[in-house]
Amino acid sequence: MNYDIKDINLAEVGKKRIAWADNDMPVLAQVRRKFEQEKPLQGLKLSACLHVTAETANLVRTLKAGGADVVLCASNPLSTQDDVAASLVRDYEISVFAIKGEDRETFFKHVKAAVEHSPNITMDDGADLISTIHKDYVDLTKQVIGSMEETTTGVIRLRAMAKDSALKIPVVAVNDAKTKNLFDNRYGTGQSTLDGIIRATDILLAGKTVLAAGYGWCGRGFALRARGLGANVIVTEVDAIKALEAAMDGFRVMTMDEAAKIGDLFCTLTGDIHVIDKRHFELMKDGAIVCNSGHFDVEINVKALQEMASDVKKNVRNFVDEYVVNGKRIFLLAEGRLINLSAAEGHPASVMDMSFATQALAAEWVVKNKAGLKPQVYDIAEEIEIYVSTLKLKSMGIAIDELTAEQQKYLQSWQEGT
Ligand SMILES: NC(=O)c1ccc[n+]([C@@H]2O[C@H](COP(=O)([O-])OP(=O)(O)OC[C@H]3O[C@@H](n4cnc5c(N)ncnc54)[C@H](O)[C@@H]3O)[C@@H](O)[C@H]2O)c1
Repeated sequence: MNYDIKDINLAEVGKKRIAWADNDMPVLAQVRRKFEQEKPLQGLKLSACLHVTAETANLVRTLKAGGADVVLCASNPLSTQDDVAASLVRDYEISVFAIKGEDRETFFKHVKAAVEHSPNITMDDGADLISTIHKDYVDLTKQVIGSMEETTTGVIRLRAMAKDSALKIPVVAVNDAKTKNLFDNRYGTGQSTLDGIIRATDILLAGKTVLAAGYGWCGRGFALRARGLGANVIVTEVDAIKALEAAMDGFRVMTMDEAAKIGDLFCTLTGDIHVIDKRHFELMKDGAIVCNSGHFDVEINVKALQEMASDVKKNVRNFVDEYVVNGKRIFLLAEGRLINLSAAEGHPASVMDMSFATQALAAEWVVKNKAGLKPQVYDIAEEIEIYVSTLKLKSMGIAIDELTAEQQKYLQSWQEGT
């Protein structure tokens, strides 16, 4: 078995973390039991490019239980949990190519290793596998029956490829499932981003002025949780409706130019580029903390910060670099990469339970429907959404009402009114 990980001797700790996460992933465990019996992925090669965390380990275990021959590589150079990678290799015999802190060259070497597994199915968190296949391994597009995409940024790119008729593989937008973004992006990112910031800095949030750039699913979750910890939260947006929603949710909404002068902590969650730019750094207070929780490390213009700084101190704390701009200190966390996956452990297992159950079921759906699939972006099938949400409610001990026959009729009719 081929693999490239930091140290196989870390496996014991990783094994315990995988088991701990599994305790909180009852829906995925149910899918795993189903997969063990039905083997829907039997004989298929599957390459996954995801954050190598304990939760992902339980997903790839499930895919293997379904019969797939799985290879896993990292979707971000800083998000790998090396002990989990070691346990996947030692205890679950899954090939992993991922080392926390790997340089760009190693990162792409690992992506390449996953592509050279010659997959029939791919899973991405940010479209790295699928873009590498389209760029450098075009022949493979004939054998890949489908691909799953986990995050907003990836889905945006894939939809752009489909629009340009450049997409050659059917893709399922797992990110767009309600059982994913309503919970994972909102509550998962909300909590784990603050967890990452607190672990990196140990600051008190109460009384701080905290800025959330973007009020999409991730921004909403972050703003809500930061307010819960006592912060005064400001939101910046470019979408008038989202800005209005933030204002009516009780947040201050203003431009980044205004917010830059007063924020103590800035977090970008937009999927956009240079949301915090050179002119914003110039306006910031001494001691301002800047971080990102959007997918790519482009939301903060780190290059501009490096160029304008008169002094740079790396690692004043783990994941904290100090830049001096106009005599004022600006602290950049995790080099502008996803703070929740760099300095903390990513989303809690309970929320990844739904996202990853959806991933696994989407892989099964692709296999079942392969004959009719075209190279376009598909939404998650309604039956998968219902299956996952129903099982999750059950695992939480929550029962809900059912429509009576009278109510069903009423809700479908137009004759009855006032
Ligand atoms: N940290 C994580 O673990 C994690 C988890 C899920 C998604 N993500 C990533 O987070 C990013 C946001 O995801 P989402 O699901 O919230 O997307 P979304 O589309 O729901 O929200 C993004 C918001 O940012 C706003 N925006 C765009 N440019 C802006 C700008 N210049 N200034 C202010 N606002 C701007 C958009 O109008 C939109 O409302 C994506 O890159 C996604 O891939 C990260």
